[in-house]
Amino acid sequence: MAKQVAKKSPSIGKTSAKGLAKAEWLLIKGGSIFTASESFSGDILINRGKICAVGENLDFGGPAEIIDAKGLEVYPGGVDAHTHFSLPFMGTVSADDFETGTKAAACGGTTTIIDFAIPARGQNVSKAVEAWHQKAQGKAVVDYGFHVALVEANEKVLAEIPKLVKDGITSFKCFLAYKEALMIDDAQFLEVLFAAKKHKALVSVHAENGDMLSWLMKKLTDAGKTGPQYHPVAHPALAEGEATHRAIVLAKMAEVPLYIVHMSCYEALQEVISARLSGQMVFAETCPQYLLLSDELYQKSGFEPAKWVMSPPLRHVSNQQPLWEGLSDGFIQTVATDHCSFRFKGQKDMGKGNFLKIPNGIPAVGDRINLLYTYGVTQGRMTRNQFAAAIATNPAKLFGLYPRKGSIVPGADADLVIIDPKKKGKISAKTTHHNVDYSAFEGFELKGLPVYVISRGDLIAKDDKFIGGSGRGVYLKRKTFDPGEWGVQKG
Ligand code: URP
Ligand code: ZN
Ligand code: ZN
Repeated sequence: MAKQVAKKSPSIGKTSAKGLAKAEWLLIKGGSIFTASESFSGDILINRGKICAVGENLDFGGPAEIIDAKGLEVYPGGVDAHTHFSLPFMGTVSADDFETGTKAAACGGTTTIIDFAIPARGQNVSKAVEAWHQKAQGKAVVDYGFHVALVEANEKVLAEIPKLVKDGITSFKCFLAYKEALMIDDAQFLEVLFAAKKHKALVSVHAENGDMLSWLMKKLTDAGKTGPQYHPVAHPALAEGEATHRAIVLAKMAEVPLYIVHMSCYEALQEVISARLSGQMVFAETCPQYLLLSDELYQKSGFEPAKWVMSPPLRHVSNQQPLWEGLSDGFIQTVATDHCSFRFKGQKDMGKGNFLKIPNGIPAVGDRINLLYTYGVTQGRMTRNQFAAAIATNPAKLFGLYPRKGSIVPGADADLVIIDPKKKGKISAKTTHHNVDYSAFEGFELKGLPVYVISRGDLIAKDDKFIGGSGRGVYLKRKTFDPGEWGVQKG
């Protein structure tokens, strides 16, 4: 991206701006600006929610509201491409709804989320999407889009795809796990891949071998091994490696790109690396929990490990370094959260006495950027440009939101996260914005915190406090996957 300055200085009259939260003209002055491809010092001029100029000394003499960003770092607002708000799942409903979830996201620097609309088997997919619109509309405080999970792939379901794509749902998730619930078999997965090809949608996959998992679950519980510490035993890395390999082969057969969600281990990463080296368009997402937490947490006493029951589970610590390297080497494109929060008391404890009944998932949407900045950027595991790419630009590109989201260029939505690299903090359940009674990252020290978070020109969070309007988020109709963003000519 070349630095661009507005051709003509905008002329504005004398306004009495009521404050930064809703300024018509907003000038971010003197920040260190980082995008996926550039680093420079300068100003960003915003008018009515859009970036209108980026450059040096954009002092145009008008009474714009000004944020002094000297000493601060400015990034594109975060795009979290994997959340589950108000998801009915495993006999309960995830604890964060679109209001609490997106407020937490906003305070943590995320200005766009893409949530999964998941129909029940037999349900009309468009009915499920309608239900997700109802959940989000008037509640979300940041902009949002939806993926759809296809939990069956019969003619009726496949026939709905063109309309969904037209309505801006251009990515579909398939589960190769959760047997007898969300899982589809290989033949159905192929049906989805070929349908996606026809309609230029992107398929994502939860890659764990559901048959292996359910065989293990039965063996363990038959043997009386019912505590939460057995959850990872029932979800070995081998099962993730195998399903990742299989999904890649099936995508190769269909000649379509594939996006692996929540990749947790070396076994899966190896499959992604060898596919990419052979020229296949395979993309991967990992999450802060797989980069920073390990399966030692399952050794905690009593029912405590239930806090980290998620699928895939936390892995041996030796997986973390390869995942960090995968990110910096470009084999992993995105860091999302898979935020799917359940209260420890009242939800996770549904699985006391049987780990199969512990609702799977952790809270993380508000922690993603803080954690990746502290443990990625400040600890030298990734550059600031790689950070911008992983938290914002790449998910925006993959999921049809770029350059409106994930970029700092004239014409883009003015979605920005401004980080004070010196500011310190600590993650705690006491201060979390998540609607739950624990934090998966309790006690993690942070260095470099968002001090201003701007969404479509509105200052929506300041110093970890949400100050934006209620229900202000808008639905994002997403474009179809563009291979041109990844250096591949359109066919
Ligand atoms: O444990 C998890 N990941 N819960 C959310 C559902 C999913 O598999 O993404
Ligand atoms: Zn999943
Ligand atoms: Zn998920």
